[in-house]
Amino acid sequence: MTDTNPIDALRGLETEALAAIAEAPDTEALERARVTFLGRGDGRISTILRGLGRLAPEERPAVGQEANRVKGVVAEALEERKRVFLVPRSTASEDLTLPSRSPWRGGLHPITQAVDEIWHIFRDLGFTRARGPEADTEWYNFEALNTPLDHPAADEQDTLYLVDSVLLRSHTSPVQMRTMEAHEPPIRIIAPGWVYRRDTYDATHSPAFMQVEGLVIDEGVTFVDFKATLAEFARRYWGPDTQVRFRPSFFPFTEPSAEVDVKRIVTGPDGTREETDWLEIMGAGMVDPAVIENAGYDAERYTGWAFGMGPARIAMLKHGVDDLRTFFENDVRFLAEFAT
Ligand code: PHE
Repeated sequence: MTDTNPIDALRGLETEALAAIAEAPDTEALERARVTFLGRGDGRISTILRGLGRLAPEERPAVGQEANRVKGVVAEALEERKRVFLVPRSTASEDLTLPSRSPWRGGLHPITQAVDEIWHIFRDLGFTRARGPEADTEWYNFEALNTPLDHPAADEQDTLYLVDSVLLRSHTSPVQMRTMEAHEPPIRIIAPGWVYRRDTYDATHSPAFMQVEGLVIDEGVTFVDFKATLAEFARRYWGPDTQVRFRPSFFPFTEPSAEVDVKRIVTGPDGTREETDWLEIMGAGMVDPAVIENAGYDAERYTGWAFGMGPARIAMLKHGVDDLRTFFENDVRFLAEFAT
């Protein structure tokens, strides 16, 4: 090395050291490379630094600087390579013959699943499916449903108006009237769809949400049909032990009106069976004769009942989700938990 220019010697060492580090198969080999090149005693770079004194004074600064640069580069390469070995390698307890995880192909959104389940239960009970426009008129959304425009529900504070008397429907009940106009009784329909309200987006409210409307109109339909069918629905949806309660309520388009609550039996993590509190699942009632008249039917001859429920709320209750917004954020890690 005495004949070689010390700068060239350092660059040669750099190349050699980087190759040794890159090829080091494990931490032991890496440690050997460190001692060889950077070791305090005989380390090859240290040796050159120690020999600086033997160089001509004008050569010293340049060689010293280069030696320090190479030292830094090699030290950094050692650190980087060390990190590779920190990643745990497969251990004997891993079963390498397990099939790989297949890619997730997606699934139905939990609210769509709730709508489908609700629809399928009513389909089995003889209902068909109906739909109506999301932009509708004041007449269909309110007046035809026996709700005067000065009723609090029709307040502009709560309803999203598009122009004059055209609005984004605030519930799926306008589909009742549109269906009655388009068909003759008997009517048994389920109408899921989006509805809109001037609500603040929070854990339990969204300005756009789904509702599922139900309507039955026929001769001789009674309160007994109403209660029995909705109780049957609740038991099919929540389980045969589910208790159902009809609580008196008010809607302008039903008389009498009820809020339907369920009490579920849930199995706790330790296997014990527990009753939930009463949970409200829908608004419902016997269709008001004024609504039947508005549809052009004879209210003496035809009676019926209707309900409206929020599948998002039902999905929250079913899956124990406490923030409605998680259904709208569409984080696939959340949605994947509902994949079937
Ligand atoms: N439309 C009512 C609501 O949005 C629910 C309802 C539907 C009540 C049908 C009675 C009958 O809250």
